[in-house]
Amino acid sequence: MPVFDAHQRPLRNLRLSVTDRCNLRCQYCMPEADYLWLPREDILQFEEIDRLVDQFLELGVDKVRLTGGEPLLRRDLPDLVTRLARKPRIRDFAMTTNAVLLAPVAGALKAAGLHRLTISLDTLQPDRFVKLARFDELGRVIAGIDAAVDTFPGFKIDTVMIRGVNDDELIPLLDFARERRAEIRFIEYMDVGGATSWSMQQVVSRQDMLATIAAHHGPVEPVPETSSAPAERYRLADGTVFGIIASTTEPFCKSCDRSRLTADGLWYLCLYGARGVDLRGPLRGGASDEALRELVTGVWHARTDRGAEARLSLRERSPLIPVNTLRRDPHLEMHTRGG
Ligand code: GTP
Ligand code: 5AD
Ligand code: SF4
Repeated sequence: MPVFDAHQRPLRNLRLSVTDRCNLRCQYCMPEADYLWLPREDILQFEEIDRLVDQFLELGVDKVRLTGGEPLLRRDLPDLVTRLARKPRIRDFAMTTNAVLLAPVAGALKAAGLHRLTISLDTLQPDRFVKLARFDELGRVIAGIDAAVDTFPGFKIDTVMIRGVNDDELIPLLDFARERRAEIRFIEYMDVGGATSWSMQQVVSRQDMLATIAAHHGPVEPVPETSSAPAERYRLADGTVFGIIASTTEPFCKSCDRSRLTADGLWYLCLYGARGVDLRGPLRGGASDEALRELVTGVWHARTDRGAEARLSLRERSPLIPVNTLRRDPHLEMHTRGG
């Protein structure tokens, strides 16, 4: 039986962050010089993740996504994929990765039973990649994308559009994705925790992106959608489908069925949530499966979060969390909660 929150939103979608570490330092996510990492002993073992996932599946979750940090930094990740892929209740099993480490393991992930892949890609220019992500890794990312073309056909590409940084690459990125039969989604820059240099001036709105695409490719037709996915999808005259995720200017909170589990077992009901619910404590403290499910159910029933809408209603917007506060609690960071 699905469990509903205070706004009648079901608990359907679980995002599992398997590590808070990352091998890139994207400007919109990890722009600082130093980070405080989660203590190693707090990181959930695969057996522990497995048991928690089972409880969520019992309560109606049927979409699971592995995230990070960068999930491929987690040792033996294909073993976790194998375990989770065995669960018939997971109708949709996906992963979001920056693809730096993907090429050598794409086949193993597919064989282990992963259904879908989303790859982050913000630029096609090597110099700009270094400026945006601090490491000279575009070559390995493209190799990872080439591997995904064969192993995960129809994979998705996520691009965060930032004015004055990569907004001149909207059309080249759209063409790049089309040539690889990937569905690209352009994401509005969000003021999430960790985006310490965010400003409203740098947000390229959905309307602006659609105008640029229409000016270049002709009429853009919306694709009707019933799912709770954050992307609105559009089709070009030649059939190419792309998406726009307008989390900043037109949030989708009213249908948000997502929650996130951090690598150390804190459960967040919203990307913007101030506090997570500790599931590691009860899990390691000997709680029964029933007790864990009761905890999750009670918390979800009381959920009222509409974080992105609340941000939109502010008159003055600046970065969500000051750097000094982020330094004290890594749980406030997007890279700990999963992108
Ligand atoms: P599918 O449609 O199932 O492929 O997944 P998805 O659209 O959730 O894809 P993905 O996980 O790649 O998320 C894409 C982007 O949407 C993220 O990188 C965020 O920028 C944004 N996003 C994801 N989850 C949330 C959320 O819970 N709230 C908000 N406001 N934005 C989100
Ligand atoms: N704004 C929008 N999307 C973000 N992501 C991370 N930080 C932000 C942000 N400030 C998303 C991107 C990235 C994924 C891992 O997380 O889509 O590809
Ligand atoms: Fe869901 Fe919070 Fe994102 Fe809104 S901001 S869509 S409630 S996670």
